[in-house]
Amino acid sequence: MGSRIVSFELCGREVEVLVSPMATLQSVLRSQLGYTGTKEGCRQGGCGSCTVLVDGEPMMSCLLPVEDVEGRRVTTIEGIAPVAGLAPIQQAFIEKNAFQCGYCTPGMVVLTKTLLDHHPSPSRDEIIDALGGNVCRCTGYAPIIEAIEAAAAGATTDAGRDAGDWPDPSGER
Ligand code: FES
Ligand code: FES
Repeated sequence: MGSRIVSFELCGREVEVLVSPMATLQSVLRSQLGYTGTKEGCRQGGCGSCTVLVDGEPMMSCLLPVEDVEGRRVTTIEGIAPVAGLAPIQQAFIEKNAFQCGYCTPGMVVLTKTLLDHHPSPSRDEIIDALGGNVCRCTGYAPIIEAIEAAAAGATTDAGRDAGDWPDPSGER
């Protein structure tokens, strides 16, 4: 089986990329498309640092053959922020000191985007459940949970925006 071209929508733009057999979405994003916001941790589905959205649902891109996203809509951390400034959850992570090394942060933010899309006012238990597949080795999780609660409550300095104001992944970014 040789290389083939895969086409999909990436953060609002159509991309076509020649990929090796069984290349993962993670490796193609980082090595071929320059989208290095998607991190590379365990590469075994155990840390969540590679979380992206596929058709709006979180997936671990290290486990996903890129061929599986043919014709689908992929959103990485690069597509979460508005054209100018930060998304509310990004602002909340800053204000709550919800990262140290930051390696887990893109996956956490992407995961939170879909959590708040589905549950705009999640309980603390729902947040903890949602974070179950995403590992942070630095913060102890409490500030991350507080950041997600703050974003859900619109309690950031950019409180004029809420989860619903995030750009549609099918938008121009
Ligand atoms: S790098 Fe994908 S889950 Fe760890
Ligand atoms: S901030 Fe370092 S792994 Fe989460």
